[in-house]
Amino acid sequence: MQVLVTGGAGFIGSHTVDALLAGGHQVRVLDSLEPPVHTGAWPAYLPEAVELQHGSVTDRAALRTALDGVDAVFHLAAYQDYLTDFSRFFLVNSAATALLYELIVNDRLPVRKVVVASSQAVYGEGAYRCPNDGVMYPGQRSVEQLSARHWEIPCPRCGGTLEPLATDETAAAPHNSYALSKRDQEEIAVKLGRRYDIPSVALRYSIVQGPRQSFRNAYSGALRSFAVRVLSGRPPVLYEDGRQLRDYVSIHDVVRANLLVFQDPRADYGVFNVGADRRVTVEDLARMVLAAAGTAGEPEVSGLYRLGDTRHIISDITRLQALGWAPAISQEAAVQEYFAWAAAQPDIYDSFAEAQARMRAAGVLREAGE
Ligand SMILES: NC(=O)c1ccc[n+]([C@@H]2O[C@H](COP(=O)([O-])OP(=O)(O)OC[C@H]3O[C@@H](n4cnc5c(N)ncnc54)[C@H](O)[C@@H]3O)[C@@H](O)[C@H]2O)c1
Repeated sequence: MQVLVTGGAGFIGSHTVDALLAGGHQVRVLDSLEPPVHTGAWPAYLPEAVELQHGSVTDRAALRTALDGVDAVFHLAAYQDYLTDFSRFFLVNSAATALLYELIVNDRLPVRKVVVASSQAVYGEGAYRCPNDGVMYPGQRSVEQLSARHWEIPCPRCGGTLEPLATDETAAAPHNSYALSKRDQEEIAVKLGRRYDIPSVALRYSIVQGPRQSFRNAYSGALRSFAVRVLSGRPPVLYEDGRQLRDYVSIHDVVRANLLVFQDPRADYGVFNVGADRRVTVEDLARMVLAAAGTAGEPEVSGLYRLGDTRHIISDITRLQALGWAPAISQEAAVQEYFAWAAAQPDIYDSFAEAQARMRAAGVLREAGE
């Protein structure tokens, strides 16, 4: 098949490209090489066999050219950040997805499959259980609560302690512009796909980890932040108290999920979580980074928090497991692989202070008590 991978120069895209080539497919990449992830040139890890097209998914002519002769699309290009340029999230993540379907339908293009990259972020806080009041989906924590260091979410009815649950695909309560735009994107893909007989699948990735994950952006998360700190001889810095639960997933498991739904018609018009089968705390992750580095340090609890962060979020992966997928790589192994890669990057630097300053200026990063 001839496959278009939008955002194929990025982290998940490039690994997906490798797997598609290994599977005997012809691959074209449409990528605008966005800074700061890219520094102006195509990354060296992209194999020569890939056809490269520089351009934006928001550009009708560029996207139409990229779709020429294509049988299937992995739509992975996205705007991801913590900034307040809200409209840009919807332009790049939602409107460009609508443009993709508009071109396929209006120009009667023979695209037989579209896989879009959604995110666990669409859950917001996800599911919790109160021993008295049952399962619930609480809203965002208030600034007052966070400022007072009350990190856990109390039951809105009885004030009791909530137990975090794995969240399944029936839920969605996005609470930031990225998550809202991703929720739109998956609705556009699955609903327009069904309406116009273009088999489409949306995958809600949990936090993905692995080599090629940019260490130059603010959004690539805790692992980048911890790794660059440890590589420069400083302790990892935890936001809140570090007890937040997550289900980090290896890029290799994500690529296997991508390929599975690409090939399996049972996945068509479905939305699937792609996460881990084990929950860990952010502090556990910091300790995994220290272990990968062979360093005997301790993570630092900073008293800082990020407005809009979810307290706990863990995905229920039963639906994708029913199609025969399961995560195969432990979170420790994924951290070790990332850390070894990061340590070997000649241009890696401690971007922690820079990312913090940017998030502070945007009002995202705050100090408890402020
Ligand atoms: N990495 C994660 O943990 C994670 C989790 C959930 C969802 N996702 C989703 O997976 C997809 C891939 O993410 P990633 O981690 O590989 O990010 P990435 O930043 O490494 O890659 C994204 C790529 O898209 C390109 N791009 C951005 N805007 C573009 C545009 N307008 N036109 C063309 N190309 C554009 C960038 O240049 C980059 O190469 C995204 O849709 C993201 O929302 C990622």
